[in-house]
Amino acid sequence: AGEKGDSGQPDVIAHRGSSGVAPENTLAAITTARAQGADSVEVDVQRTADGELVLLHDCTLERTTDVEEVFPDRESYALSDFTADELTRLDAGSWLSPEFEGEPIPTLREGIRALGPRTDLLLEVKVCEGEEGLGQAVADGLREIPGYLRRAVATDSLVVQSFDHDETREFHTELPRVPVGLLFSARPTDAELAEAATWAQQANPRYTLTDQALVDQVHALGLEINVWTVNAESDMRAAVELGVDGVITDYPQVLREILRTS
Ligand code: G3P
Ligand code: CA
Repeated sequence: AGEKGDSGQPDVIAHRGSSGVAPENTLAAITTARAQGADSVEVDVQRTADGELVLLHDCTLERTTDVEEVFPDRESYALSDFTADELTRLDAGSWLSPEFEGEPIPTLREGIRALGPRTDLLLEVKVCEGEEGLGQAVADGLREIPGYLRRAVATDSLVVQSFDHDETREFHTELPRVPVGLLFSARPTDAELAEAATWAQQANPRYTLTDQALVDQVHALGLEINVWTVNAESDMRAAVELGVDGVITDYPQVLREILRTS
């Protein structure tokens, strides 16, 4: 996982599942990514009001669910104000297409189950305002899934990443055997990368700020590098040329085909 195999090709990582063709962060997006031959699936994890870990990208529910119809009188649509039971009433698929009507917001546990035994997980800890402690909560949640961590560590099939480097560090302190990645939306400084290399395994920058010098620098520090979010075919080809370890894309089937024919 993460590392380029004998093929020298990067991992195909489905962004929020196969979110170009299925509703992001749903079981449909995960199973589609799997069927399309993604090596790994990236999803975002957050916490409900009653502490359930669920897959959702935004801090609020309006964009990707019918929450405004189902709960018209609520003052806030922040995920952290809803219980897991309330979330089961929401449709997280119709916003994309009627084909996906009734797709639920999955729990982390359901998402992991949908991956099956051969697809890796790149789990982003999505820390919204006031959600400190999520790194610890994710560590606890993973521990509660019977057999999962032991298997994930043995097969190198789980990486936990975040833009929130403090929460990543908290997670790492809790579960040091699970590799972690730091997300960068601005170009990382030399000092940031050197510090990351003392405890993290991946530095994962926005693709548009990635060049050969950055890839080489990250590799020289012994870190892996996954770039996001790469959707144009020309960018996919360029990312492959840069020698990154993984390409995070909404269209894993397109990247798979590029790799197959190159
Ligand atoms: O995996 C990195 C990428 O998912 C970060 O951006 O906003 O899609 O979570 P975002
Ligand atoms: Ca993400």
